[in-house]
Amino acid sequence: MLTLNRTTQIVPPAGEPALEVDGLVKSYGKVVAVRGIGFLVPKGQVVGLLGPNGAGKSSTIKVCLGLTLPTRGIVRVFGSAPTTVEARRRMGYSPETPYFYPFLTAEEILTFYAGLQGIKSVRTSVDQVLRATGLEAARRRKVGHFSKGMVQRLAVAQSLLGDPEILFLDEPSSGLDPEGRLEMRQIIQGLKRSGKTILVSSHILSDIEAICDRVIVIDAGRIVADRLLDGEMPALEVEVEVRALSDEALAALRRMGWSVHYDEPRLSVLNLQPGQEPRLLALLAEHHAQVYQLERKKATLEDIYMEIMRQGGQEK
Ligand SMILES: Nc1ncnc2c1ncn2[C@@H]1O[C@H](COP(=O)(O)OP(=O)(O)OP(=O)(O)O)[C@@H](O)[C@H]1O
Ligand SMILES: [Mg+2]
Repeated sequence: MLTLNRTTQIVPPAGEPALEVDGLVKSYGKVVAVRGIGFLVPKGQVVGLLGPNGAGKSSTIKVCLGLTLPTRGIVRVFGSAPTTVEARRRMGYSPETPYFYPFLTAEEILTFYAGLQGIKSVRTSVDQVLRATGLEAARRRKVGHFSKGMVQRLAVAQSLLGDPEILFLDEPSSGLDPEGRLEMRQIIQGLKRSGKTILVSSHILSDIEAICDRVIVIDAGRIVADRLLDGEMPALEVEVEVRALSDEALAALRRMGWSVHYDEPRLSVLNLQPGQEPRLLALLAEHHAQVYQLERKKATLEDIYMEIMRQGGQEK
């Protein structure tokens, strides 16, 4: 079961963090893509980077990789600047829109990149990454004949060359069919089990929910939520079938600190603490609302993401 633990602080890791981002600002001329972002990622954590198009996810990832320099702020990968050889050796990257030369085979491409990276045991390394991404059977096929899902897997395979400890996967599942998405999910879960630290951006919230230990939501260049995903604390959403609900009644519910949406006859109430259902029913009765049914729902990441974006929108 998923809940977003709203009270848990993201505790700074005891040892050296895998990734440290502090006060990061990134501008492209007049466009400010990232407006002061900070977070720490402990080793082995899998972090989902969420946010609408243009929020600044890819810009953040590229600065973390040292592909582009920050306008302000600091990034450290295992304690080193991302542009250093020590940091580069430990990072892997799968870009948003991977491109590979279409006349080469998967094996040729990976062998080429392994050579560029100065990897000693090229053959073993290429075999390993092909296996990890389920591309062994397609290793001698030209990439021009690959499906989109296979190209995405090849990009992840490339990111794994040299066995890096931290992976930056920018929308690895974008444009994939349900089967391809499932395969990608399984690949990332395998990498997680092998102890990799992963930063993965995606718009597919159910995938993020299945894969990640934590989500960071970015909107307009700022972090609007940074939360652990864990199954211990119940985050309750209650759905009530209710008619004749007045604006005063809705206001009374909101004063309780609950997040309330009413589309007659469906009333959904988020942020309800366990045991508060009788209070909700009492308030509805006080306002002469007609209650037909009450159902507890597990909040999905999608519900919570929408809620975060609504709150972010109100703050702006
Ligand atoms: N090289 C660039 N030059 C100018 N502006 C850029 C450049 N790269 C990104 N931007 C702008 O920076 C902002 C953030 O873009 P970014 O690609 O980081 O967002 P994103 O969260 O990855 O979005 P998406 O979900 O669409 O991939 C956008 O307004 C974008 O137009
Ligand atoms: Mg992007």
